Amino acid sequence: MISKIFLALSFFANIFLIYLLNRKKIKNFLHLPKIKKVDITSLNQIFSLNSISSNLKGPKENTIVKSFSITADNKIVGMTSDYEAWIISSLSKKSKNIFEFGTCSGKTTYLMALNSDEDTQITSITLKPDEVNFIKKENKDSKISFRNIKNESIYDKFLFSNSNVEKKIQIIFENSLKFDEKNFHGKMDLIFIDGGHTYSVIKNDTEKSFKMLNSRGIILWHDYVPGKKSSKDVVKYLEEISKTKKISHIKNTSLCYFQNK
Ligand SMILES: C[S@@+](CC[C@H](N)C(=O)[O-])C[C@H]1O[C@@H](n2cnc3c(N)ncnc32)[C@H](O)[C@@H]1O
Repeated sequence: MISKIFLALSFFANIFLIYLLNRKKIKNFLHLPKIKKVDITSLNQIFSLNSISSNLKGPKENTIVKSFSITADNKIVGMTSDYEAWIISSLSKKSKNIFEFGTCSGKTTYLMALNSDEDTQITSITLKPDEVNFIKKENKDSKISFRNIKNESIYDKFLFSNSNVEKKIQIIFENSLKFDEKNFHGKMDLIFIDGGHTYSVIKNDTEKSFKMLNSRGIILWHDYVPGKKSSKDVVKYLEEISKTKKISHIKNTSLCYFQNK
């Protein structure tokens, strides 16, 4: 009898150990993404490729962009990957009015300014470091995303500060939950949503973005990563609205894409 109990206990202990070691993989497996993955070349024609030879395709002129990298030693938080940055930079090339939720170091803001026309206007809204003491967590908001807002609201000077494209950029230091977007209604060609990743903030920023978009405008959301803890609210909210809005997940990125048609 004792040996049977021992066998049963060791069986469950092993199962538990396997679960602990593979927790992430199991969670990813259980969370089947609900937003369809699409290659960027089928989402927007500027990304269609040039046929160079029978086994080589390359980028067309409109996706050749200016770029930069920052060494990991600089520990800049909340950055996009190089591939994501290239997509945003390419879309900026033909955008005259751009809005960003969440400036952080200003890496993406800088890329959008470097790659757009001289007369393009870029507006980015962000929290000042001392404003994080006044933000409130709503019941629906994930703890980790709320904590990340505090960790990421640390800059009041940006990578583009004192650069020759700074004049194209306007920074609004304000909580986006209180931001009155009326003056921007129907104006934006491109909106990048990468501010607070809590449910209440992503919902607020998205609802305001849909009003700010012009008739052909594009919205990109960052950090759609099913199964990742800090993306939980982003995933939940985007999957909810994808039932009524045609949102795609861009392959090999954490970006989601919507275009007014
Ligand atoms: C992930 S970082 C943005 C990264 C940046 N877009 C980039 O590509 O480098 C998040 C930013 O959102 C800002 N943020 C978070 N919650 C906000 C809120 N409620 N209102 C305005 N900005 C907010 C933070 O201050 C931080 O600068």
